[in-house]
Amino acid sequence: MSDFKKEKYYITTPIYYVNDVPHIGHSYTTIAADTMARYMKFLGNDVYFLTGTDEHGQKIQKTAKAQGLTPKELADKVVVNFQNLWKKLDITNDFFVRTTDDYHIKCIQKAFKELYDKGDIYKGEYEGWYCIPCESYYSEIEIGKDKLCPSCGRKVDMVKEESYFFRLSAYEDKLLKFYEENPDFVLPKTRYNEIVSFVKSGLKDLSITRTSFDWGVPVPFDNKHVIYVWFDALLNYISAIGYAEKTEQFFKTWPADVHFVGKDILRFHAVYWPAFLMALDLPLPKHVVAHGWWTVDGKKMSKSLGNVVDPNDMIERYPKDAYRYFLLRNVPFGLDGDFSEKELIERINSELVNDLGNLLNRSITMVEKYTGGVVERPSDANDGSLKDKAQETLNNVKEDLNIFRFDEALSHIFEFIRFSNKYITQKEPWTLKKNKKDDELKEVLYNIISSLKFIAGIISPFMPDSADKILKQLGFEKKACEYSYEFFTDFYSIDKTTVKKGDVIFNRIDEIPKKKDEKAKKDNKQDKITIDEFFKVDLRTAKVLEAESVEKSKKLLKLKIDVGEKEPRTLVAGLKEHYKPEELVGKTIIVVANLKPAKLMGIESNGMLLAAKEDGAFPALLTVAQDVKPGTKIG
Ligand code: MSP
Repeated sequence: MSDFKKEKYYITTPIYYVNDVPHIGHSYTTIAADTMARYMKFLGNDVYFLTGTDEHGQKIQKTAKAQGLTPKELADKVVVNFQNLWKKLDITNDFFVRTTDDYHIKCIQKAFKELYDKGDIYKGEYEGWYCIPCESYYSEIEIGKDKLCPSCGRKVDMVKEESYFFRLSAYEDKLLKFYEENPDFVLPKTRYNEIVSFVKSGLKDLSITRTSFDWGVPVPFDNKHVIYVWFDALLNYISAIGYAEKTEQFFKTWPADVHFVGKDILRFHAVYWPAFLMALDLPLPKHVVAHGWWTVDGKKMSKSLGNVVDPNDMIERYPKDAYRYFLLRNVPFGLDGDFSEKELIERINSELVNDLGNLLNRSITMVEKYTGGVVERPSDANDGSLKDKAQETLNNVKEDLNIFRFDEALSHIFEFIRFSNKYITQKEPWTLKKNKKDDELKEVLYNIISSLKFIAGIISPFMPDSADKILKQLGFEKKACEYSYEFFTDFYSIDKTTVKKGDVIFNRIDEIPKKKDEKAKKDNKQDKITIDEFFKVDLRTAKVLEAESVEKSKKLLKLKIDVGEKEPRTLVAGLKEHYKPEELVGKTIIVVANLKPAKLMGIESNGMLLAAKEDGAFPALLTVAQDVKPGTKIG
């Protein structure tokens, strides 16, 4: 029986600025939150997981201008990079909030008006050091004694601007009392102490509108002002679940159980945000958990150094589960960490290949060889050593994840994996087979398979893809998230199963694989072709007559196309994740008509369709600008 009662669990990531493409830091926050969301579901809770993008503010307005786009055009372009990356990394968010969405804007204006009416927001004058070319205010510390702009180096001016203020100073005592009563509100503990001393040093009222730019939510009753990006951004956590409309979802979901953030944005979440919520008479989140900062090979990531790690590139060259594993395993959550591919490879080879992969491989091989692949619960399944160790591991993992120690949880899980490997070595199933000790052999094999079933469950929040692959080899066809907590944690829950060897789940890596663009550069040099070679490719237009999804395939669609021949052709294409079958019917596409047939999921595909595919982006089908007959040659 589960020792948990089903509870709602609301978990969030920060919303990411759309003036940049996603990098390893963004993926870290999201992977940690996803792991927690999956773990809470694994326990049987009712999870709501939110992520999204922060699309207003001066920086975004400037970046858009530099690219000749409107800010909304920039946002629409960049948001896809985040959404596609999350899909590729198996992120299970329930909703994706954008601060330019109507429900969000409505929520910000409503909250602003409510606080203004209550007197928590008032109109005043903002005074500060301002750099006119950069259109930004800077603090005394940032400009130094020479009073120079930290961004462009020019002299800054003391400027006064009309602004609306949030009465933050009125919440100082209330915040301190709240921290005292909730010592685990901010985690890790060192960060909690930092926040308490910051608030103790005194809080000034917060300027929350600007008149110097206009890319933001206008103050509802004074549209000369736009609302400051942090007031706008933080409220995403309530706008996305229906605060403005006071929906059922809102009352069911709020307060958040945990906001995951980087240490750089902790103050906004642990000081301003609870003060805004107190002012709005809303309950406060249970935890704000701050993680550390990633550097790359010892250096801060920056475009000018050219050392920004693109997660798309990582998961193209390494298994995505290995990337998820490395980020959470290599650094204690909360501390800064350094990203190095060399260390990633070391962990893949030693832990994922040697420990986990090897356990699966040797176990399945033995069961297939000794009992024809079948394991069955013995009448008296009582060799407790693995069962007890699994229970101890489960308890440890729960304790670790209660305080968001992902690295410790993984360390405990891998201790169990090594323990299981040792169990095999000690029990020597090969000797039992040789000595015809069949009953004992069956029991040992049953215990080993039960261990692997437990491992599949407990790693599933961290490495969901590998968990599914393990289950499949154990003879369980569904995804890990479709089985219950009890299935994984009642150690002897398997009645009978037939294992089936599959591909190895992780391959050894001997050297750092080449980056895709390096490879492409090399390939380009070698691959210039002559015009005759080009004309060997028979490109033709084709009309899509029918389209249907290929059963059991995540990616494939089966199309019936008219290429101007007597009979229509069948073509299989990897478009399922991006297009609904009905969207394709009637379209004129471009196909390579003289490609040798290939079998995909048992279906013969005759030809290949063309699509423009930017890294990580939605594939754009190539089509024609005006109607032409099916089978028209392209040249
Ligand atoms: N838009 C704000 C957040 C508003 S939340 C109401 C923002 N966006 S961000 O895109 O700049 O950063 C989002 C997250 O990425 C933060 O949690 C930040 O800490 C994290 N990271 C950005 N660079 C990072 C590293 N180099 N290392 C680890 N995480 C870092 O801030």
